[in-house]
Amino acid sequence: MNIHQFDVVVVGAGGAGLMAGLYASRGAKTAVISKLYPTRSHTGAAQGGISAAFGNYEEDKPEWHTYDTVKGSDYLGDQDAIEFMTNEAIDAVLELEHMGLPFDRTPEGRISQRPFGGHTNNETGKPVRRACHAADRTGHMILQTLYQQCLKNKVNFFDEYQVLDFLIVNGKTAGVVAVELATGELHTFHAKAVIFATGGHGRIFEVTSNAYAYTGDGGAVLLRRGIPLEDMEFFQFHPTGIYKLGILITEGVRGEGGILINGKGERFMPKYAPTVKDLASRDVVSRAIYTEIREGRGINGSNYVYLDVRPESVIKYAAQDGRTNPDGTPYTITGEQVLAKLPDIIDFCRVYLGVDPLTQMMPIQPTAHYTMGGIPTNKYGEVIIDDKNTAFPGLYAAGECACVSVHGANRLGTNSLLDLVVFGKHAGLKAAEYAKTAEFEKLPDDAEADAKSQFEALRHGSGKANAFDITTEMKKVMFDLVGIYRNESGMKEAIEKLKELKSRYKEVCVKDTGKIFNTELLNAWELGNMLEIADVIAECALNRKESRGGHSREDYPKRDDQNWLKHTLVWKKDGKVKIGYKPVAITKYQPKERVY
Ligand code: FUM
Repeated sequence: MNIHQFDVVVVGAGGAGLMAGLYASRGAKTAVISKLYPTRSHTGAAQGGISAAFGNYEEDKPEWHTYDTVKGSDYLGDQDAIEFMTNEAIDAVLELEHMGLPFDRTPEGRISQRPFGGHTNNETGKPVRRACHAADRTGHMILQTLYQQCLKNKVNFFDEYQVLDFLIVNGKTAGVVAVELATGELHTFHAKAVIFATGGHGRIFEVTSNAYAYTGDGGAVLLRRGIPLEDMEFFQFHPTGIYKLGILITEGVRGEGGILINGKGERFMPKYAPTVKDLASRDVVSRAIYTEIREGRGINGSNYVYLDVRPESVIKYAAQDGRTNPDGTPYTITGEQVLAKLPDIIDFCRVYLGVDPLTQMMPIQPTAHYTMGGIPTNKYGEVIIDDKNTAFPGLYAAGECACVSVHGANRLGTNSLLDLVVFGKHAGLKAAEYAKTAEFEKLPDDAEADAKSQFEALRHGSGKANAFDITTEMKKVMFDLVGIYRNESGMKEAIEKLKELKSRYKEVCVKDTGKIFNTELLNAWELGNMLEIADVIAECALNRKESRGGHSREDYPKRDDQNWLKHTLVWKKDGKVKIGYKPVAITKYQPKERVY
């Protein structure tokens, strides 16, 4: 057996994992294991910015950021945690700046900020510039900066190690089992504390902005070990993915003045959000796009609309909106400025679509983007296992795999990067503190047995079923029936289909018997995780009989605070889903109707 011993093991090397690793390593012997080379993590795909109420161009304050986040969450976010995050935002961004992150600058040399959906001046209701950005590569820059800091601080990395199992001894954390992709060998990481930072699960949907790695591994591994997941029915569709491909076109495009146009050539968002228009929260904009499409106003009757950032259009609509430059003059933008502010999305459209956004409109459709639910934690990253907020000893989670819950039913753009920096840091600090006094639990001799048996089942299946077909069918059913719009009969159909897929999955047999970079085996194992997660999402979505944030039910179109202002907790036992609830922390803001 390959056994390693560390005080703290972090699983995942995206922004949250790196931040957690960095902070844990200052107080404890720490390892970061990741199925990807760290700088290939999905944080690198976050484009438009990280939120902090600096007010570098105009008045802004953390209280406004708190309220916007509560409102954006459709009042399901825990307000104590939200306030904690927004109050830490300015220091968190300054820390990144001091680590060397090359933010864009205002003419005076401050960090440049742009408007983003749902971030407002709470007095006027108008968009406020709160997203701190490095062109449209903000996540990429965070990832590079944090990785360099981790290397400087001599964090121990195990790159391309896939976590397979979480070890519990005497009701406490004892470590994880992982497979080394280069050799196929199993490794046991004996640890006092484990931090999961494994990202989301958007790959369960047909059209997604998520990386191939986003297969819900952390949540699925913990679910198998009896840890619940929270608010799994809430999944965010980002309004602007490249048509059919799903690749993200940052909300920063609309922040810079881009507008959405339907098949009749009309700008439609003022109908749905009269004050902030194209910069409403994502759930509102995504539904608006689908409503246009359903009512026959997609482009040429198809299921997409246009995003227009051609400078002449931006200037025309900005004048109609009365938008100004920071100095109060009418808002203008040139092609050169669009290119400088949004270089990656211009490139993506030119390369993948043959469309030049400086002279042509971009075909877009909503794309599965962000996992609001996940592993329940408190604001220190401690994993919570019941409605009384009991923490599991030595277990932590941060970033997209976690549900703090600061995003509730719908996340505001740019709050994900903030979330992973703030809560990655606190999870790292807490885990190191725990490891100072905790003892290592004694590992059983067969610590790797369960992980091994999962792989063996895939190596020795009957071979009657094909993993690729199952994956394709799962993605389609989830996108069509448990996507932006949901209803009882569709979700019941989806649950039946998932049952069938899970039973076919038992017969999958991988053909590659090799050990070195056996990606066929790995993908088949990831499919097992996605099926577990898809099932839980569909069951929780069927259970929640209301519409709130990203969960939009045609048969229950209204938010129902009387019965549903509560978090869902979900467990899996003997393959069956068990659902419970947890109260929402409401401190300052009583729920009211959301108007944008
Ligand atoms: O639109 C974007 O740039 C995405 C950012 C986010 O999801 O926070």
